[in-house]
This record gives sequence, C-alpha cells and structure tokens, in this order.
Amino acid sequence: MSPTDTPLLQVTELEKSFGANRVLAGVDLEVRRGDVLVLIGPSGSGKTTVLRCLNGLETPDAGVVAFDGGPAVDFSTKVTKADRTALRDRSAMVFQHHNLFPHLTVIQNVIEGPVQAHGVAKADAVARAETLLARVGLAEKRDAYPSELSGGQQQRVGIVRALALQPQLLLFDEPTSALDPELVGEVLTVLRELANEGWTMVIVTHELGFAREVADEVLFFDEGVIVERGAPSELLRQPKKERTQRFLNRLLRPLDGPEPAAEDDA
Ligand SMILES: Nc1ncnc2c1ncn2[C@@H]1O[C@H](COP(=O)(O)OP(=O)(O)OP(=O)(O)O)[C@@H](O)[C@H]1O
Ligand SMILES: [Mg+2]
Repeated sequence: MSPTDTPLLQVTELEKSFGANRVLAGVDLEVRRGDVLVLIGPSGSGKTTVLRCLNGLETPDAGVVAFDGGPAVDFSTKVTKADRTALRDRSAMVFQHHNLFPHLTVIQNVIEGPVQAHGVAKADAVARAETLLARVGLAEKRDAYPSELSGGQQQRVGIVRALALQPQLLLFDEPTSALDPELVGEVLTVLRELANEGWTMVIVTHELGFAREVADEVLFFDEGVIVERGAPSELLRQPKKERTQRFLNRLLRPLDGPEPAAEDDA
C-alpha cells in the first residue's frame, strides 16, 4: 500500500493561550501529501499562531502534532528537545514580511539555513540555491543585497530560502499582503507552480481567486477554532455557516467602498 494514503500531518486538539487570551481553542487539521490548504479568517483569529506552532516558533499548551513516520508529539505532556527539533525540521515558513538578513546577499541568505542548521556542505548548498533561484527567475540576483530587490523579488527569495531547507511542508503566512498590488501576481505565480509540482502547503491568504484555483481545502478560522472547512468551490461560494458568510461578505466589499445602495434609490 502506498504511504501517500496516510496524511503527511495530523494535528489534534491544538491549544494555545497567551496569558488569559485563549488563541487556539482546539484546532484539528489534517494535511495530505501534495495538498494545498488555505486558511482564512478575521484578524486575531489565530491563523499565524497555528503556523508558528507547527514550525516550532511557539509551543502549544496542549494537542498532538504528528508527521507521518515521526513521533506523535503530545504537548500536554513533557516534550523533549529532540521531538521539538524533529517537528520543526518537517516544515519551513514564509512570512508576511520576507525577513531576509539585510547584511547578507541573496545567495548567502538562501544557504544560511541549510549550512548552519542542517550541516549541508557549502558547495552543495550553493549549487542547490542557484538552481532554486533560477527557477523563480532570480539567477542574476544571486549577489544582490535584499535592499536592492523589489518587494516581490524579496518575497521570492524568501520562498527559495524555505525551499532550500527541503521541508516536507511549506507554511505561508499572508505571503502577498505586504506587497504593492502590481507585485502580488509574480509571487502567486511561484506559489501556483509549487502547488503544481506537488508541494504540500498550508497558506494563510485572503487572495480568494488564488484560493479557489489552487486550494484542495479552505478552512475558515474564527476565535481560535475552525468554524467551517470544505472545498473552495463550496466554502467560498456557498458557505454553510453564517459567520463564514459574514466574513466573506466583508472581504469582498472594499473596506472604504460605498455601502450597497438601498433598493429604493434606484
Ligand atoms: N507572542 C504573543 N504574545 C501575546 N499575544 C499574542 C502573541 N502572538 C499572538 N498573540 C495574540 O493571539 C491572537 C491571535 O493572533 P494571530 O497572530 O494568530 O492572529 P491572526 O489570525 O494571524 O491575525 P492577522 O490576520 O491579523 O494576522 C491575537 O489576539 C494576538 O494578539
Ligand atoms: Mg496573522
């Protein structure tokens, strides 16, 4: 039987509080190999916190996180450093702001993780980085510094930096929301290509057209729980829950746009 039948990642009852603020109140997730999950939801609903918990940047208070072939790590019990490292290395995260090191060139930024954290030989890391940079159209920017790149180019380097870690799972936290509108397309194109190549991805984004096109499943978060989940064609077009409907209506109406005209104005 093929190993692709078991999910790559299984998350059960994930909980996280910051002081009295209960940010994740029992989140269940399942990600199958090659799938693209899109998370949507209002500000403060816990989307970033979920990604950070998966990538080891936050420690959940409770819940079980299990990658296929690895230990099921139960955060309600004592978790060893080895478990933590094993979990963290399964995924790589791309942030809203690219977070490149300003004093390092593009290639130095990309090889830093593989060389420092994974002990990859420098020559191998450079060769792989060059291949990845070429794939996103940035071969000639190899020796540029981040400040010499456009926002979209910086974000593409951020994606390459995540790919260079050779993770099983890619996590994206609103990868286009800090970009000028004309630069959004080039980053979405890279994400679309990664999806087509079979990368497994969890993406927080409010680019609904993109979500409709690439997502296998869309999850609507609110107040630390998943309120509704489903295929994009269902959840984005005909949500079952009133909260989802309200959120989508708000998202689709421009923030400072006019209120819908009253019937009798016509
Ligand atoms: N390190 C932290 N310390 C204290 N509170 C935090 C921390 N990180 C997040 N929070 C709180 O947790 C809640 C959820 O935050 P989170 O960043 O996960 O939301 P989000 O859904 O990603 O929102 P947005 O759409 O604005 O990015 C918020 O109330 C936030 O203030
Ligand atoms: Mg966020």
